[in-house]
Amino acid sequence: MSHPPIIGPSVLSADFLRYGEALSEAEAAGADYIHFDVMDGSFVPNISIGFPVLEATARGTTLPIDVHLMIENPDRWAAEFAAGGATHVTFQAEATRHAHRVATGIVDAGATAGIAINPATPLAAVEEMLPFISTLLVMTINPGFGGQALIPETREKVRRARAMIEALNPACRLQVDGGIDRNTITSLELAGADSFVAGSAIFNNRATVAENLNELRARLARHNTFAV
Ligand code: DX5
Ligand code: ZN
Repeated sequence: MSHPPIIGPSVLSADFLRYGEALSEAEAAGADYIHFDVMDGSFVPNISIGFPVLEATARGTTLPIDVHLMIENPDRWAAEFAAGGATHVTFQAEATRHAHRVATGIVDAGATAGIAINPATPLAAVEEMLPFISTLLVMTINPGFGGQALIPETREKVRRARAMIEALNPACRLQVDGGIDRNTITSLELAGADSFVAGSAIFNNRATVAENLNELRARLARHNTFAV
């Protein structure tokens, strides 16, 4: 049985010229958490934001901050993000040989830990980690950029991830990230996801943050939102 669904705007798609307002709009619109994408130009072909922006984010919102590390060597950095204002830190399974040590370091530093897998990474790569994490993130695109189209085959992987979570750690959340919009969110919920990251579907010029968030929420079978 999955948790009530929650939605986290990815600030990667926000207008950084008015970043504080974007945070306030998300919070006022009832976002459940802020998704904060860290990219190092090595693990993914893009560079994004890091510690100074995380520190400002922690001052700019009361929402939980969900840091998604798309970086090499999370062994070196993950605990520092946990100590630097993150509520939750997710690292990519492909980036470390010592996922258990990284997850333990995050928890010891005061945050909850999650592990992410790219579309090409099998679920079996993180099976043994399920007892040690509170979120499994199944990437529904290849990480690196906002605004990409969801890879449809990942829905089937989400279905298998739900079964694995039910068998090994039902308390663990199943998060999806990449290409989540009004047309894709329902099928991912039906596949078993219960935490939805959305960047370009929430921060765009077509509608307000509140309108976009409400639209996504309306597409979920259940409309409740709960804190992480
Ligand atoms: C991509 C990031 C995502 C991204 C999602 O590498 O991990 O969180 O911001 O953006 P959308 O929702 O636009 O696909
Ligand atoms: Zn992300």
